[in-house]
Amino acid sequence: SASVGLNLTNIQGDILIGMKKNKELFFFFSIVDPTSFKAQLGADILPFITSTTQVLDVSTQPETLVNIAFSQKGLTELGITDNLGDTLFAAGQLNDASNLGDTTSDWVSEFIDPNNLLHGVLLLASDATDNINSTLSQIQNALNGSISEVYSIQGQARPGDQQGHEHFGFMDGISNPAIAGFSTQLPGQALVAPGIILVGEGGDGTARPSWATDGSFLAFRQLEQRVPEFTKFLIDNALSEPNLTADQNAELLGARMMGRWKSGAPIDLTPLADDPVLAADPQQNNNFNYSHPGFNITTDQSHCPFSAHVRKTNPRLDLNNANFTNHIIRAGIPYGPEVTDAEAASNTSSTDPSLERGLAFVAYQSSIGTGFAFLQQKWANNANDKNCASSYSLPQGQDPIIGIAPEDGPRSVGGLDPLDPTRDITMNQDFVISRGGEYFFSPSLSAIQNTLSA
Ligand code: HEM
Repeated sequence: SASVGLNLTNIQGDILIGMKKNKELFFFFSIVDPTSFKAQLGADILPFITSTTQVLDVSTQPETLVNIAFSQKGLTELGITDNLGDTLFAAGQLNDASNLGDTTSDWVSEFIDPNNLLHGVLLLASDATDNINSTLSQIQNALNGSISEVYSIQGQARPGDQQGHEHFGFMDGISNPAIAGFSTQLPGQALVAPGIILVGEGGDGTARPSWATDGSFLAFRQLEQRVPEFTKFLIDNALSEPNLTADQNAELLGARMMGRWKSGAPIDLTPLADDPVLAADPQQNNNFNYSHPGFNITTDQSHCPFSAHVRKTNPRLDLNNANFTNHIIRAGIPYGPEVTDAEAASNTSSTDPSLERGLAFVAYQSSIGTGFAFLQQKWANNANDKNCASSYSLPQGQDPIIGIAPEDGPRSVGGLDPLDPTRDITMNQDFVISRGGEYFFSPSLSAIQNTLSA
């Protein structure tokens, strides 16, 4: 497709392709001296901020990649009065908590601070935490007390052969939409206009101040994962495919909840057994749309349940491959340690906060209401309304991975058993617990220089 001429030196590097390092620190800060901060931002901090061009050029990129984003409270603190045209961003994520199905008593206290001093976040990514720590020191020295730390989360890729896999064990980061004029569309991959992700680009229909162009809204979520409980649930509810062992039937249930096998192979293409070769082939691992010759897509769950996480969050042919709006780019990373022997033996996550693990979830979009919040609220949490064409007769059930039931009670998920898709499997608990987060705006480098600095 024709180049739309995206200004990649102006777009922060995490947005379109992700900084993709083994370590990433999310450093949430409060601006305590706005006047000093504005002076330092352009003069001292801007040189640290990594553009998309720099992320693309691995040979010349710095050892630590840095991005910065601001909450509405942060922009206000900097004296910005322009309306960025996103009501969820303007109100902040805490005001969206009940719409998202969150229980705010599960939120970490820093995200519900009544003074809401959370003004921004620095994202520092590198393959070594030493690099991150020394870059953070340099930034803090330059800022000389104009910001203070509110909270931080150290993300890290999982060890060994689990690198790239989230804590439940599934390969992540496979399917993101291609951006027209920027990325090459792989078979099966969604293609969206740049304005679906970037503010002010073609396809963003909202009126914005011109300085916001080439920025993107960053939805951050700290999503705790109850890994031993998830593993036990799979064993206790193992399916009963006749040619599979008990372990394989447990794996199959997990794969049907996610829509992919642990390797990343899509169950829509390989419904009864993992296929690591297929998983590793980018020409094939996204090339599915839930339709199969001889099967009616509006009723068929033999390949993939309607409720599977990847089908809920990207319905593909269920929406006639015609949804070009409700897409996000994901750039999260796992946080927290591996499951300990004691946790595995007791099938229970420790209550020790230092052992909390999960996903430091990051989604970029030009509109939070059509991006992250739409996927979470209208699709994942929604058991009865179908996120698919009107000809579908079966309810989908909530997303068993991220669907959040507001009442927090047990819930039933249909469609998981390929031998009897009408059989409901009861989940007595959620395996992903939202610990809260915030909505941020990740501005262009020119906006940092010309609008946010003094
Ligand atoms: C895909 C895990 C939270 C949206 C995936 C995949 C995994 C996964 C393993 C498949 C790999 C891939 O296609 O890249 C998780 C876990 C989560 C989580 C463990 C929580 C701890 C979320 C949230 C959203 C989301 C909160 C949005 C509301 C998506 C989307 C895809 C995806 C859009 C790609 C679907 C496709 O294009 O086929 N996730 N995810 N995920 N997830 Fe999540």
